[in-house]
Amino acid sequence: MKRIGVMTSGGDSPGMNAAIRAVVRTAIYHKLEVVGIRRGYQGMIDNDMSVMQTTDVSSIIQRGGTVLKTARSKDFMTPEGMKQAYDNLQAQHIDGLVLIGGDGTFRGANAFFDQYAIPAVGLPGTIDKDLSGTDFTIGFDTAVNTAVEAIDKIRDTADAHNRIFVVEVMGRDAGYIALYSGLSCGAEDILIPELKTDMGEVVTRILDDKRRKKDVHIIVVAEGDDFGNAEAVKAVLTDSVPDADIRVCVLGHIQRGGAPSMADRVLASRLGYAAVNALLRGEKQVMIGQINNEIVSTPFKEVVKQSAQIPADMAEMTVVLTA
Ligand code: F6P
Repeated sequence: MKRIGVMTSGGDSPGMNAAIRAVVRTAIYHKLEVVGIRRGYQGMIDNDMSVMQTTDVSSIIQRGGTVLKTARSKDFMTPEGMKQAYDNLQAQHIDGLVLIGGDGTFRGANAFFDQYAIPAVGLPGTIDKDLSGTDFTIGFDTAVNTAVEAIDKIRDTADAHNRIFVVEVMGRDAGYIALYSGLSCGAEDILIPELKTDMGEVVTRILDDKRRKKDVHIIVVAEGDDFGNAEAVKAVLTDSVPDADIRVCVLGHIQRGGAPSMADRVLASRLGYAAVNALLRGEKQVMIGQINNEIVSTPFKEVVKQSAQIPADMAEMTVVLTA
């Protein structure tokens, strides 16, 4: 192996830059050439790539976003797009790839590598933490900390006004950001797709709180909750809780930005380093993750959504601590 490509794809996540830096530095240490592919799979199709040097990754470990840019490429999901991407990779003499992204990236990889044989290793880069094969994904810790900071602030103003707040956090199909931020902020209710949402119970709890003169009620809801988003939750409460003073706060994309936390910088560095070593060892079509503090490889085919796999004790604890 002489020349590898590295790209970030799908929704950006804090720590992607740290991963790119580790990949570039490890590859150059091993005398490999590294080609940075911009805007994920779309950059493969558009031949938007150039050789990276160590200096290209200086002073990026602390930055959110991704210096390689990212995209959710629709063109790549067509046979013509994939063929064009493959032809460009061949023309660039790329004989190994490091793909950093979330479930969409791995779905794209599965479709592509079913037809085209280039050794590739993936890294879990998504704030959602919805991939199997790793305990944590690059960006999750930072996103949750951003949400925690915001919800703590919301509690101050909710408390000052005796208000009910419905805070919507990201997680299209997974409730991990809601679960971890809700638990960390002592939310009165946490609504996630992995646990059946019973709005009747939420209403009962709010009425019970009012009886006990507890006037603040923070509900953290995952955007992908089975019941619906924050506005849907508010609509039910408006109808069912007399005199309720309810506000909605959708945290949105602030959860994707910002300087990565220490945990994300270390995880990204460790996985980026391991990815290049895995390619050099001849591993291919696997995602490199970290489970129980060990580096593990999981075939792309098995890297599927991890929703519905909230550990049983956490699910039970959530019920107990919000009761
Ligand atoms: O990358 C994951 C994620 O942040 C989800 O939590 C969210 O549903 C989605 O991306 C938003 O995507 P976009 O930035 O394309 O609107």
